[in-house]
Amino acid sequence: MSRLLEVENLQISFETFFGEVQAVRGVSFGVDKGELVAIVGESGSGKTVTTSAIVKLLPEPPALYKNGKIVFDGVDLLPMKEKEIRKYRGKEISMIFQDPMTSLNPTMKIGAQIIEGLVKGQGVDKKEAYDRAIEILELVSVPEPEKRMKQYPHEFSGGMRQRVMIALAMIGNPKLLIADEPTTALDVTTQDKVLELIKRLQQNSNTSVIFITHDLGVVAEIADRVLVMYNGQIVETGSVYDIFDNPLHPYTIGLMKANPNVSRDSGELYALPDVVPHPVYKEKEDGTYELCEGKEHIGDDTEIIELGKDRSLRVHLEKEETELKE
Ligand SMILES: Nc1ncnc2c1ncn2[C@@H]1O[C@H](COP(=O)(O)OP(=O)(O)OP(=O)(O)O)[C@@H](O)[C@H]1O
Ligand SMILES: [Mg+2]
Repeated sequence: MSRLLEVENLQISFETFFGEVQAVRGVSFGVDKGELVAIVGESGSGKTVTTSAIVKLLPEPPALYKNGKIVFDGVDLLPMKEKEIRKYRGKEISMIFQDPMTSLNPTMKIGAQIIEGLVKGQGVDKKEAYDRAIEILELVSVPEPEKRMKQYPHEFSGGMRQRVMIALAMIGNPKLLIADEPTTALDVTTQDKVLELIKRLQQNSNTSVIFITHDLGVVAEIADRVLVMYNGQIVETGSVYDIFDNPLHPYTIGLMKANPNVSRDSGELYALPDVVPHPVYKEKEDGTYELCEGKEHIGDDTEIIELGKDRSLRVHLEKEETELKE
């Protein structure tokens, strides 16, 4: 598989009344063509800020893009001006959000919104757009699409609206779909249907997907690979099997324990600690790492080490004493 997106050392701050808030602190990750990468992590860990930055959706100010690269299909998007980035936003890179009502126009019929998207975004004529709109609604399993085209968003159920959102996001045949908690507001059955739909579109059109969620059950169901975020940084990455079967970072281990549905030990509910101790690793002579038991360090003085292909872990690397004295 080849890389579609490479985010390198992304740093984003916000100017606030109280000073600069470092929301994203040196995030690097890649997404392959056709891959579904899930981002998990607690509220405020920087998931939305990181992914909104990909298509530069954060208004400057208060946002400050301090550093980094966002290489999409070989081109760095970060230095682009608004006019240039618009060629990508909603076209090659689409986004869907938690609440479709914020993205759908409540005063416009569903059909008209899809047709407008096709005419403006794809340059097709109105008649062809009508036929394509019907096809798109069928594709996302909206029953009786001709009748549904004439209805307003409020006449649709939450799950149905979310499917229309996905339909709108898929119109431009994007290479990358960013879905920020798209199923959080839905009941479990509807959520399953929407997840199935995203997975099907990913597989059929080879679209890459970045899927943000709090729900580890959802991750287990759909992700190929997982990025775990904590406090503006990635703390661990791995395949969905690595992360569920062999979580290494204390924060990831805590997440697994805190989620009774996916954790394998039955026991009482686990509360995440406020401060996450970073594991201390020591580099051995052969270049591999060993965990130094009993030493838990806290703080910013950590770095990501690569444990294998697409498997990485944030650790507090133990420095030799002589080095520390220098
Ligand atoms: N406009 C803003 N001004 C100041 N700080 C902001 C702004 N937007 C986001 N932040 C800060 O950036 C940090 C990361 O926020 P972000 O929205 O990315 O979190 P998240 O991981 O998406 O959380 P959630 O799971 O609740 O959606 C938070 O500390 C937040 O307070
Ligand atoms: Mg968010």
